[in-house]
Amino acid sequence: MSGHGDPIPMISHKCGPLTGVAHVPGDKSISHRSMLLGAMTVGETRITGLLEGEDVLATASAMRAFGADVERLGDGDWRIYGFGVGGFAEPEDVIDCGNAGTGVRLIMGCMATSPITATFTGDASLRSRPMGRVTDPISLFGAAAYGRSKGRLPMTVVGARNPVPVRYTTPMASAQVKSAVLLAGLNAPGETVVIEAEATRDHTERMLAGFGAEVDVQVTGEGRVITLVGQPELKPQTIAVPRDPSSAAFPVCAALIVEGSDVLVPNIGLNPTRAGLFETLREMRADLTYENEREEGGEPVADLRARFSPEMKGIRVPEDRAASMIDEYPVLSVVAAFAEGKTEFVGVHELRVKESDRIDAMARGLEANGVCVDEGEDWMTVHGMGPDGVPGGGTADARLDHRIAMSFMVLGMAARMPVRVDDGSPIATSFPIFENLMAGLGARIERSNR
Ligand code: S3P
Repeated sequence: MSGHGDPIPMISHKCGPLTGVAHVPGDKSISHRSMLLGAMTVGETRITGLLEGEDVLATASAMRAFGADVERLGDGDWRIYGFGVGGFAEPEDVIDCGNAGTGVRLIMGCMATSPITATFTGDASLRSRPMGRVTDPISLFGAAAYGRSKGRLPMTVVGARNPVPVRYTTPMASAQVKSAVLLAGLNAPGETVVIEAEATRDHTERMLAGFGAEVDVQVTGEGRVITLVGQPELKPQTIAVPRDPSSAAFPVCAALIVEGSDVLVPNIGLNPTRAGLFETLREMRADLTYENEREEGGEPVADLRARFSPEMKGIRVPEDRAASMIDEYPVLSVVAAFAEGKTEFVGVHELRVKESDRIDAMARGLEANGVCVDEGEDWMTVHGMGPDGVPGGGTADARLDHRIAMSFMVLGMAARMPVRVDDGSPIATSFPIFENLMAGLGARIERSNR
């Protein structure tokens, strides 16, 4: 799985109104965690609505390599027979996590407190990303990690023989780092404490509690203090994975910028640690409403209705909202190009270390399509051109980044001239039905062999 197949160049043409109902796939974050926690129970965990993107499939293969019995029963319907907390077997071969930063970082956390050795790799994007943010805290438990320079993959992790619990303050707003520490804490005796200055997505805390671990969360002057009691017996669960707000972002944003559109995106989780994009769009005066608001599995859920919004105005996106929409800045930068005035992103240095350097990838791609962008190390400003003002006609380099590829396909739906991406193949990591789903709403995306 490391290295994608042949590149798939894609081209998106200006289209007529997008209309209809868009059922987006299951949540990527919750899908990874369902696999991992299912593997750490003894007994059968059932998952429905699992995202069957390449990232999650890589995590499923990894759990098999560590000794779990993982079986696909039907579309999105999976069964895992786990090995229990601390029951990790040593894999016989290198674990290839493909494009998945969440996958590799969370798995490293999970196995770091078991007495085994595992070697991890991934595709060119994943091999360029920093792993020190996880190997630093897992070394406090007693694990050791040996990778390439700058903490990059391939990397071998030697799990702790006699793990000790840890108290750790995350140095950056990262749910992956927080989660890796909590998952490592599962097999350490006593209490592991993670402190995060800014709230990041809280699926790990919620799901650990759901699987029967003792987890306490306090909001203090230091931030969110999460305490986990180690060595619990996790209980198998039946999990219905909610649909992914980060995937919903694409049909929602496309509908806002394509004239005459009216799209319903049902059953989207609006956990406040994930819903920052929708709040921002509403502040920009997008016609985006929440219908049928309800609670499911303790999480707020709604059907999102997005309609063409020619009146959108640029805003300064508050820095303290960044963590709750960190994956959505690429597609928001596309919407910002069709708003009036400038949209400012601040405090977004984490965008530099995602599947690609997303500030650079969006700035260069927008410029290639006639949009003016200013950028600095941790900020970016998009100069909006109004509802019919974006020229298009350029090619964007997707850089093995699914969200960059999808964002430029959305740009092409409303720009005056078609927009190309050099390679749309990474879209399959998180949203394998993207092309069909968007075509069903009225988009005109083609695979083009230039
Ligand atoms: C994720 C956390 C975020 C996000 C990623 C999924 C998770 O990464 O960008 O797509 O599931 O925990 P960081 O923790 O690095 O911000």
